[in-house]
Amino acid sequence: MLEVRDLHVQYGRLVALRGVSFSIAEGEIACIVGPNGAGKSTTLLTVSGVLKPTRGEVIYDGKPISGLSPEAIAGLGVTQVPEGRHIFTGLTIEENLRVGAALRRDRDETRKDMERIYETFPILGQRKTQAAGKLSGGEQQMLAIGRALMSRPKLMTIDEPSLGLAPKIVDRVYEVLTELRASRGLTLLIVEQSSERALKAADRLHVLRNGEMQLSGRAADLKDGAEVHKAYFGFTKEHSGEVMI
Ligand SMILES: Nc1ncnc2c1ncn2[C@@H]1O[C@H](COP(=O)(O)OP(=O)(O)OP(=O)(O)O)[C@@H](O)[C@H]1O
Ligand SMILES: [Mg+2]
Repeated sequence: MLEVRDLHVQYGRLVALRGVSFSIAEGEIACIVGPNGAGKSTTLLTVSGVLKPTRGEVIYDGKPISGLSPEAIAGLGVTQVPEGRHIFTGLTIEENLRVGAALRRDRDETRKDMERIYETFPILGQRKTQAAGKLSGGEQQMLAIGRALMSRPKLMTIDEPSLGLAPKIVDRVYEVLTELRASRGLTLLIVEQSSERALKAADRLHVLRNGEMQLSGRAADLKDGAEVHKAYFGFTKEHSGEVMI
């Protein structure tokens, strides 16, 4: 469904991605993990067309999309839940959901989709006329996911859904994401700092560090974590004590 080939991305003279490649099959949950500054958000922003690569390309459904505007890419069914969620705190929950449907013209269907989101996230339905800023962090994450669903994505990218949330809430977020894959056939590209969490949730895991893909594999083959640890930190667990001191 998605193929990222030899992606190079720069911010001015700073090279953030150097030859990043990976692909995602339809219906798959893929996780990109890596330390701060690895280039995870940059990768997602390039897939969604906010950033333009200096080299390489993004192929979606067999067609190159890197030259398209973010709106055009969203129109093809690729929707991003951004880092930090970016909820409009002064708007109501329902208004936030409407923002997610801004590119749609099918009013009846949009209304039905909103009801479906209230079924998935009852708390959003119960509080739909309240300001979104009143929601807890976990509820805001659900709203950000709900808002993205309003555009009827085929591929949803999510940047650090667990950020700042208690472990129990993170469990719930991942439960919801797994349910959405099952009920809607959604394909998911998730960025995570925690490789443990990613190994639990993902079919396929990609480890990014210093703007380069260090390791890609089936999560089932990487479960013991040692290989992932080395790719993530650049040294093996046995040596980590020495290096850290
Ligand atoms: N707008 C920007 N302008 C200049 N440099 C940037 C910008 N955004 C990111 N960078 C730099 O690009 C590199 C990759 O950043 P990116 O945000 O993609 O990392 P990340 O893996 O998402 O990190 P984090 O886990 O902290 O969110 C870093 O060196 C970062 O400082
Ligand atoms: Mg980031």
